[in-house]
Amino acid sequence: MTTPQFYQLHDSSSPAVLHAIRNELTTGLLAARAAVSPKYLYDALGSRLFDAITELPEYYPTRTEGAIVKQHLPHLAQQIPKGAALIDLGAGSCEKAEKLFDALQPAHYIPIDISVDYLRNTLYRLQRQYPMTRMSGVGLDFSAELTLPPELLSLISGLPIVVFYPGSSIGNFSPDDARALLARVQALCAQGAAGSGLLIGVDLTKASEILEPAYDDALGVTASFNLNMLLNINHLIGTDFDPQDWQHVAFFDAKLSRIEMHLQAKEEVTVNWPGHSRNFKRGEAIHTENSYKWTVPGFAQLLQSAGFAAPTSYMDAKDWFSVHWALASA
Ligand SMILES: C[S@@+](CC[C@H](N)C(=O)[O-])C[C@H]1O[C@@H](n2cnc3c(N)ncnc32)[C@H](O)[C@@H]1O
Repeated sequence: MTTPQFYQLHDSSSPAVLHAIRNELTTGLLAARAAVSPKYLYDALGSRLFDAITELPEYYPTRTEGAIVKQHLPHLAQQIPKGAALIDLGAGSCEKAEKLFDALQPAHYIPIDISVDYLRNTLYRLQRQYPMTRMSGVGLDFSAELTLPPELLSLISGLPIVVFYPGSSIGNFSPDDARALLARVQALCAQGAAGSGLLIGVDLTKASEILEPAYDDALGVTASFNLNMLLNINHLIGTDFDPQDWQHVAFFDAKLSRIEMHLQAKEEVTVNWPGHSRNFKRGEAIHTENSYKWTVPGFAQLLQSAGFAAPTSYMDAKDWFSVHWALASA
């Protein structure tokens, strides 16, 4: 039986990667306005907590995106090439890509995630279910670069490349950083055969009464997801954060069109880690995530500025969420 292959390009136990992580986290924690990249929300527990968030009544993005894809799958399948290399960025549970398999029949499925251990079990199960599709999991931090291992690139040579980037994860990047990431995606797609492109889910600007509960739910699951980042940082660099000293804060900044998530010190607290310490006053916060909300024309323009053709865009009836298919070249 075919077994999935794994490529670990982001091994947080390797000294070089750990050194880079230590520098990045230390710089962020010591900054005048402390900030940590949202990628540190996703250790094994963080990935599970995120999956739980997607089940919450307040968290509309997952089910709205799912409904758009389901409704338009026949039309999408006419545009997206079959038998492609399907590259799933930030694949997490791989559930969304799995829903495309029957329609798109990918020749090779390549989920990429910083939290690669989380991919393993899912990929073994998927491989048993879809023995005709080759599967390769890649552990990679794509905020830094988006280069596949040469061995994997040669395996997909000659195939169209379809990049799938659902869940509005692109919203974690500022508009400039999003353009840079999309340009890296475009360059990857451009290595594929004709018909290569990007299928991406993007959350849309809307009333803060709908947006804010999606990031601050009644059960406190998003709060736990945010607070778990402190445990992940303790594990990675030996800080002595106590989650009980901190509280989850989320709000919509309409001017910047983004949800901001923070961890706010409940009382004055000093955090220590090897070689460093930082005092946080009561109410001082660590900025942990942005989630930018777009308009459909604004996002179409962003795609084109990153080198993609004008997209075909699909929305739900309430215009809460959008899904775009964009060819890598016009
Ligand atoms: C919001 S979740 C989305 C999961 C799934 N694709 C979905 O739409 O439900 C973001 C996923 O991207 C991964 N991720 C976040 N930042 C990443 C990075 N810089 N490089 C690689 N993976 C990243 C996380 O581990 C997580 O699985």
